[in-house]
Amino acid sequence: MNRHFRTLALAGVTTCLLAGIVAAQTDPIAARRGVMKGVGAATRTGSQMAKAEIPFDLAKAQEILKIYAMAADTAHTQFPETSKTGGETTASPKIWESQAEFRARFDEWAADIRKAADATKDLPTFQASFGTVTKACGSCHNTYRIKA
Ligand code: HEC
Repeated sequence: MNRHFRTLALAGVTTCLLAGIVAAQTDPIAARRGVMKGVGAATRTGSQMAKAEIPFDLAKAQEILKIYAMAADTAHTQFPETSKTGGETTASPKIWESQAEFRARFDEWAADIRKAADATKDLPTFQASFGTVTKACGSCHNTYRIKA
């Protein structure tokens, strides 16, 4: 993939995220799944950069962290009581049994993301920060997602 295409791909992720936020008012399941898909795509680019499979690009690294920050922020409105089932959701019923703890996970993640954004200046600092912010993915999914 050339540089130009990758930039376009990330821009596409941002567009999906924004569309997800708009859709949140009508279909929270589709919206949060769209947001998480954007997070997944950003993570693939971030992993390639952290492994030096693609060149480090500070703007792109910060863009990935912005996508995470947006996801952590919008999560607070994307799990209403009316969205426990349907739309092929993999959200666990545990989310609604312990809403406060579930929301706190997103707030902790958001705090790590802010620290990562401040710390990321070059490849080594990105590698360290990216390692920290991506630990939250599996740890949240293990508790709050049902295995599909
Ligand atoms: C605090 C909790 C939490 C964190 C942190 C989190 N996720 Fe998720 N994620 C969820 C939940 C809940 C779902 C299920 C949403 C649904 O199906 O309604 C999900 C779903 C997904 C999906 C499936 C989307 C689809 O197609 O339906 C992907 C991909 C994903 N997450 C990637 C990530 C990645 C990568 C990270 C870390 C960079 C991450 N998530 C961090 C809670 C979290």
